[in-house]
Parts: sequence; C-alpha cells; structure tokens
Amino acid sequence: MEWIKVFAPATIGNIGPGFDVLGLAVRGMGDTIEARRIESGVRITPIESDYELPNDPEKNTAGIAAIEVLKMLKSKGGVELKIKKGLPLGSGLGSSAASAAAGAFAANHLYGSRLSKEDLILPATKAEEVVSGGFFADNTAPCLLGGATLTRCCNPLDVNRIGSINKLKIIIVTPDIVVLTKEARAILPKQVKMKDFVFNMANTALITAAFAKNDYSLFARSLNDVIIEPVRKKLIKGFDVVKEAAISAGADGMTISGAGPTVFAVTDDNSKAKVIEKAMVDAFSREGVKCESTITEADEEGTRIL
Ligand code: HSE
Repeated sequence: MEWIKVFAPATIGNIGPGFDVLGLAVRGMGDTIEARRIESGVRITPIESDYELPNDPEKNTAGIAAIEVLKMLKSKGGVELKIKKGLPLGSGLGSSAASAAAGAFAANHLYGSRLSKEDLILPATKAEEVVSGGFFADNTAPCLLGGATLTRCCNPLDVNRIGSINKLKIIIVTPDIVVLTKEARAILPKQVKMKDFVFNMANTALITAAFAKNDYSLFARSLNDVIIEPVRKKLIKGFDVVKEAAISAGADGMTISGAGPTVFAVTDDNSKAKVIEKAMVDAFSREGVKCESTITEADEEGTRIL
C-alpha cells in the first residue's frame, strides 16, 4: 500500500482572553506524518524528532487519534504512521494537537475520507486530552479546519470557524523554555473576580466579531487577558520586558500563545513586523533567554495532504 503524507499546522490556542475556546492556525510550522494502510492495529515507526516521544500508539497523540478514527470508521484494517515533528514540545504552538490532527486525518484519508474534518475534531481532542490533562479544542479545531475557531461547548463538542483577518501579521517568538500544558493549567486560579470575567468575556466576544468582520483594528484592541496572562507569564522569563519591547517597537498587542512559553505580537504592517521581531528577540536575549522567531499569518487550510 502506498504512503500518503499529511501536514498539520501550528496553532495559537488559546488566543489571548479566549481561554480554551479561541484558536488560530498559523502558516509555516507544523508536523508531518506519512501513513499507509496495514492489516490491523496502529503502528508507529521511529519518530523523527529533537526530543523523545512515545512510540506506543496508545500513548502518542497521533496514535491515539488514529485508533479513535479507525473505531469510528469500524475499520478492520490498520495504519502505520511515520511521524516527523516540526513543532517543539511544550512550546504553546499546539505540538501535541498537530500530531493528533495529522494522525486522525491520515487514518480517515486512508479509509475513504468518510468522516469530515469537523468529525475528526473529537478524536483528535480526545487524544490531546491524554497528554494535556484537559479536554479543549482550541488547538485541534483550528489545526484541522484552518483559520480561527471558537468552541461553544465541549460536551457535546460544538466548534465553529469564525472567519479571517486578512491584514493580520503575527510575530511568533519561542523562548528556549519548556512549559508543559499540564503544569501551566495546574497553576491557574480556581476562582476569578467578576469584573475580570466580564472584561475577558467582552474581549473574547470582540475577537470573534473581529474575525467575522475581517476587522484587524478590533482584533488588535481586544487582545487583552487579565486572568490567564498575569499568572502564566511567571513561567516565561522576561515576559514583561519583551511585551514592553514589542509595544514600543510598534506592535498593537502581545500575549502568550496557548499555555506558553511562546509569545506572539500582532501588527498589520509588514515592515513593522521585522522591527517588532528584532525588538522581542533582543529583549529575550538581554534576559539571557535564547529564542526562535518567525513572522507569519493565519493558515486558512488546516490539516492537508501534501
Ligand atoms: N487552552 C489550552 C491552555 C491550550 O491554554 O491550557 C494548551 O495548549
């Protein structure tokens, strides 16, 4: 049986105040999985990655998602997966979700694409739950569908694609710090003040409106999070200095990508983007933190065959 090659993009999830609900797929980075049919079961060949990941299909998000999809398809046949990680572990760029989405997509494609991308969100999210300790689709949904998504409800899962902002340029900076989602969730407050809840809710709603209206300015001024960012920024050495540097260099906002430590700033101006990127990298460097950076935009396609 011939191999197919699937690409699943990186994601920013959550986007600022939209904790666990708002996510966005971004261009350029992602995981690639080659897959082929086998007689039965799910098998993972040695993984191409800079860090160790389990080969056991029941412990690997790609494997778990593929197993779930084969169950949904009631397939007797199996799948072999060759995983090439393009996303760093514990980076806040949806690494485990990308593998899960690619695994789910590959299994479905090999057995006739009977499920829609929307159908694949549930198995991919279940797979991510195993490694993250939480059930949220703000990485898996945009990764599969592309663009920006909003989760209305997890049980039953109800996710909506919410549009595009053509002018949005995203400066992504990933410091050389590992933050595991499980740990970044464990430090979050159990209760929040009503005024903070109202503020975050309003900003989340307006980010959604901004995507629906293709309104960059509304998006940029709604990128404010007074609940999660103040707690999680403590895990990111230099966060305040980097944010100040980004804003001084012309960014219209900066916050944490997902559980961190990746941060992202936004602009609608290409030449400003390079200046902002340099200011953020220099600020991390002054704090003694090495980092990788890139300028990108939304990935409207999501998980796909290469
Ligand atoms: N919404 C999740 C969180 C995403 O912020 O904990 C983690 O990738």
